[in-house]
Amino acid sequence: MDGTVGGGGHAAAILQASAPTGRLLGCDRDGAALEAAGRRLAEYAGRLELRQANFADLTGWVGPESCDGVLLDLGVSSPQLDWPERGFSFQQDGPLDMRMDQQQLLTAADLVNDASVLELTRLFRELGEEPAAARLARRIDEARRLARLVSTRELAALIERVKPRRGRRLHPATRVFQALRMAVNDELGSLRRGLAVALEVLKPGGRLAVITFHSVEDRVVKAFGNEQARDYVTGGAVDVPELRQPVAPRVRWVSRKAIQPAPAEVAANPRARSAQLRVMEKC
Ligand SMILES: C[S@@+](CC[C@H](N)C(=O)[O-])C[C@H]1O[C@@H](n2cnc3c(N)ncnc32)[C@H](O)[C@@H]1O
Repeated sequence: MDGTVGGGGHAAAILQASAPTGRLLGCDRDGAALEAAGRRLAEYAGRLELRQANFADLTGWVGPESCDGVLLDLGVSSPQLDWPERGFSFQQDGPLDMRMDQQQLLTAADLVNDASVLELTRLFRELGEEPAAARLARRIDEARRLARLVSTRELAALIERVKPRRGRRLHPATRVFQALRMAVNDELGSLRRGLAVALEVLKPGGRLAVITFHSVEDRVVKAFGNEQARDYVTGGAVDVPELRQPVAPRVRWVSRKAIQPAPAEVAANPRARSAQLRVMEKC
């Protein structure tokens, strides 16, 4: 199961590696991505089934204990970033959209213009780990009282005025854009539900591989794996040995540490620089 088919790169590699009989189920929330992936993967049509769906909603489609592997390659795809009209990138001008599923109603413009200062501060802090969260939320509020903020460059320019760019460090708008994108698409909610669902659809001995691109989502994956790998549950509000009840672990970590791309891979594909791969095996 490839829960994040995107441009179909991993899907093609899985189909090649599992030839001639391996079957792949693939989904993505983004209908445009899925269409492009369908064209790219046409030669594997007999072994491939694609659907537009959130990977958190797989159970109606994929049977329990039916998969040898599940891959979740989180975040946005290169085409999503490169199409200005999707509104994911602060490098290019486009509408403040950021919806992965374009049938969804909520857009980034709705959040930027209608969420309270307190809510924006919380989003920037919790989802973007933005140190200037409160200051940025207040400045957005001042600006939107004059006119609705509608474009990505407009928002990025406002952020640059509050936090001027210093050298080659992270662009000042990176964290705010990450936070808005994650909130618009409820990415942490989908990830939490998706991890639990992935364990249900895996056969015993099957593997779940998750690629994350920033620490907020990596922490969720690591905490989930650690919890499922534990051989006890705590019997009270605190974890003390006296209150522990033994249980069979549901997974084991395939490698204790996250796997990172080698320098050659980052040189060939700079967008891979922050990727972290964690792999667990269902017991
Ligand atoms: C990093 S890209 C995947 C790239 C893909 N592995 C490839 O080889 O081209 C992430 C993709 O996951 C999709 N996505 C993110 N969250 C999702 C979710 N909860 N359910 C389904 N698709 C999701 C995005 O729309 C995007 O196309």
